[in-house]
This record gives sequence, structure tokens and C-alpha cells, in this order.
Amino acid sequence: MSVKTKHSNIGTVVAVRGSVVDIMFDKHLPPVYSLLHAKEGEIAIEVLAQLDALRVRGIALTPTQGLARGNVVEDTGGPLKAPVGKGILSRMFDVFGNAIDRKVTPADVQWRSVHQAPPALMRRSTKSEIFETGIKVIDVLVPLERGGKAGLFGGAGVGKTVLLTEMIHNMIGHQDGVSIFCGIGERCREGEELYRDMKTAGVLPNMVMVFGQMNEPPGSRFRVGLAALTMAEYFRDDERRDVLLLIDNIFRFIQAGMEVSGLMGQMPSRLGYQPTMGTELSRLEERIANTDTGAITSIQAVYVPADDLTDPAAVHTFSHLSASIVLSRKRASEGLYPSVDLLQSNSKMAASGIVGKRHYLLAQEIRRTLAQYEDLKDVIAMLGLEQLSPDDRKVVARARRLERFLTQPFFATEQFSGIKGKLVSLKDSLDGCERILNDEFKDYPESALYMIGAIDEAKKKTEPDKPEAKTKPGAEPESKNDSKTDADSKSGQKLRLESKDKPKPEIKHAADTHES
Ligand SMILES: Nc1ncnc2c1ncn2[C@@H]1O[C@H](COP(=O)(O)OP(=O)(O)OP(=O)(O)O)[C@@H](O)[C@H]1O
Ligand SMILES: [Mg+2]
Repeated sequence: MSVKTKHSNIGTVVAVRGSVVDIMFDKHLPPVYSLLHAKEGEIAIEVLAQLDALRVRGIALTPTQGLARGNVVEDTGGPLKAPVGKGILSRMFDVFGNAIDRKVTPADVQWRSVHQAPPALMRRSTKSEIFETGIKVIDVLVPLERGGKAGLFGGAGVGKTVLLTEMIHNMIGHQDGVSIFCGIGERCREGEELYRDMKTAGVLPNMVMVFGQMNEPPGSRFRVGLAALTMAEYFRDDERRDVLLLIDNIFRFIQAGMEVSGLMGQMPSRLGYQPTMGTELSRLEERIANTDTGAITSIQAVYVPADDLTDPAAVHTFSHLSASIVLSRKRASEGLYPSVDLLQSNSKMAASGIVGKRHYLLAQEIRRTLAQYEDLKDVIAMLGLEQLSPDDRKVVARARRLERFLTQPFFATEQFSGIKGKLVSLKDSLDGCERILNDEFKDYPESALYMIGAIDEAKKKTEPDKPEAKTKPGAEPESKNDSKTDADSKSGQKLRLESKDKPKPEIKHAADTHES
């Protein structure tokens, strides 16, 4: 890094414990957040505490192999800095602002401290505008806010990265601002793949990528988010452009803080998290704000340990967001991608004053139908679908069709699903849901609605069940059900006999409706 030392303040290493290094300074004790260099700049250390009048304790942002007691440490006289300016567009950086895309170091950049205060309350602005993603389930049930923060919550492998990549794909082309992708503690491969995809898609000229992936030491993962934010703030404040900030994965930031805190010898708090988790996270999240000069819209993936949404890391993150998209393992295991949990996800934009009355009422009706189906699931599991009243059965049919209609083929998964990705406008998504709720598709098989774009594709894909076919699978259980209720009133024995007599159609029926 090209940070020149103005005054030569030299110290010596007195202790090295993994990533934590204690350094003694005779002349001048560097302030907290100062960046120190050892081994000719090969090792970078950030001061996190002053132990006494002579010693500081710092966390290494690079591996500390080869560092020993007595080594010389040089104070750079400033904090960790990130490059900002037009020159950083279309480039890929590490936490120090070194280009990692094998191209020349960007010229015409300024260096700014990664530690900045969040904008003052006076400078903040809010405007409630919807950010369309082209993903049905999100636009209908969890509308995102332009200039808001949205979180994609989910356990391991439920599709956070895929959904985030799809959003990048759908939104980056249409928005005229700058996009910044920040990879924190995730796979290096994913970063490389994203870079290549963005290059092929031709959206790289308006994009910056910053990575501190899982192979980096905790100090680096802890600071890379701040470096990305500094760049975002530059585009917002100096260039007055809107910024889309994508972070995968904010949990790894918290986790890095936990490792740093542990290494620094602080007492752990609940579930081993650092006692300062709340402040660390809000210091990052509060900087993602809208001002009169521009808006930073942020979408963050949040790993949820053990799928437990009450985990302190998830709880703290929830409180910062304007939209929470919860991904469910159950839906993922049924192949219903994107595996958004339709009842647990919510957005503060889903209010009638913002999305409009029709959209609001439709979303309410969808949730009500799905919630009713959720309640009926136990009854269905114990007694079978046949025992439900005709009205309840209609609710189940609607809910299951809605669930399937809200799946969508993604551009990001074209290679391995073999289905072409689809972008669906909000109008088409709402129309589709409305028509399903009006029972227009009750005669279509559920599979006709699975992995389609707009609802008309279902009509192209399959014909509704023919009248004679309809009497078979559709009407049979109903009449059977009627006879059952008759039988029920007459004798329970008859009911049992009947179900014994005809085991096949029942099983078939269950399979038809439960696993399409
Ligand atoms: N929309 C989708 N369509 C088809 N398959 C999907 C979809 N989303 C996720 N998957 C499947 O789930 C797998 C895991 O997805 P992904 O890598 O996005 O998970 P993740 O939540 O980011 O996991 P991790 O926490 O490990 O980073 C994918 O490789 C893919 O097979
Ligand atoms: Mg991931």
C-alpha cells in the first residue's frame, strides 16, 4: 500500500498471540485505529487498544507468520484507508485497496479513512419508493425500499447467494447508479464467479467489488465492510449518485468481530458473541443511509446459525432492516425456489399508503390463504384432505397454487436447472395471484404453475383437466367424502371398511395433491 509515513514513529513487537500483537512505543503512543506496518509493510496491524503508557494492542489484518518479538513496527500515522474516485469503477479490491483483478493499480484515486461517522440526522432523508426486483414473491409480498436495507436470512445452503446474485442480475442493468459488491467471509470461488458473470453481462463498468473472503484473517474480514462503505459514501456524497450495496454475508462480519473480541481477551456475551456486537453492527449499518445527495440501497445476506432466527446475530440484524426476506429450509427441500418463507418475511413497505390499496389487499389475502393452509396442514396430515369441508379444500387448492406460482426460474440457475430465467413485472405478478385467488386455475394441475413467469404461461403449458378427466380425480374424492360423511353419521365401521376397500385411489389422490 502506498501510505507514506510522515513522522517516523517506530515501535517493537513485545508479544504475538495469533492475530493479536502487542507493540511497545517509546516516543509516541499511536491512537486507536492507527495502522501499523511490520516487515516492510508485509504485515499490517490495526491498533484496537492502548494497554498502558507505552504499549498498544492491535489486531493483524494480514497473516502474522514470521513476526517475532523484537521486530520493528512502523506507525503509518493514519488509519486504514480505502481508495475512492472514478478510477475504482469496474475494479476488484481487497481490504487494503489493493487491486486483485491482475490489472494495473488504479490511478486518480484518493485515499479515505474507512472509519467515518454516520451522516447526521439533519442530513438524512427518506422517500418511500418501491424498488422492483422482477422476482414475483419479493415484489408481491416483501416489496423492497429504494434506499432501504433488506436482509436475506437463511441457514446454510438455502439459496441466499443465488437469490442475491439473481437480484444483482435483475437490478444492475436497470439502475443508473453504481453497484458495490462486498464479499465478507464467504467462498473465494463465489467472488471469482460473480466477477466473471458481471463481466460477461457487461455491467462491470458501473460496479466495484471488495473482498475479504473466508481465507483472510479475522481482522481483514472485520474491516472489509467498512472499506466498501467508504467507497459507497464517496459515490453518494461526492458524485451524488445512487448506490446499490450488496453484502454477502453480514453474519461473517459479526463472526469476525467475535473472533477479534475473543483474541483481544474480552469476556464473551450470550452464546459466545462479543459483548460489543450491537455497537459494532450499528456502526456499520447506520452508515448505510440516504441523504439529500443520494441513496444507498443495501441488500445483505444473513447466515442464520442452525436455522435459529432467535440467534443474537440474526436478531440484531433484523432490527436494522426495512425488509426481511426469510428463506426456509422446508420450501427449499420441496424444490420451491426461491425458498422464501411466505409468512415470516415482511417489509415495512407493504402498507396500503405505499404500494396502493389493490396490492395491499391482495398481499393480505395471499397471506391469509397461506396461513389458513398452514393451520389445516395438521388436520390433513392426521385425517387426510377428504375430511376437510369443501370450503377448506378450496383454500388448500388456492394456497398450493399460490405457493407454486410464487416460484420462479432464475437466470442465476439456468446452467443447472435447464430452465430459462424469467423476469416478471409487478403487474403480471399481482394479476397472477389475483386470478388464482379467484379460482380461475382450479382446474389446472398444480404443476402447471410451477417455475413459470407470468400466469398466462400456465395456460400455454397445460390444458385444464378435461370434463371427463375432471370427474375422475376431481369429483371422486368429493363424492366419496359426501358418502363418508353419510357413513360417518351412520356407522364408523362402514367408514373404515370403505377406506379399506378402496385404498388405491386415496393414496393416488394424496400423492396428487401433496407432492406435485
Ligand atoms: N432459485 C434456485 N433455483 C434452483 N436451485 C437453487 C435456487 N436457490 C438455491 N438453489 C440450490 O441451493 C444451493 C445452495 O444455494 P446458495 O449457495 O445460494 O446457498 P447459501 O444460502 O448462500 O448457502 P451458504 O450459507 O452456504 O452460503 C445451490 O447450489 C442450488 O443448488
Ligand atoms: Mg452463500
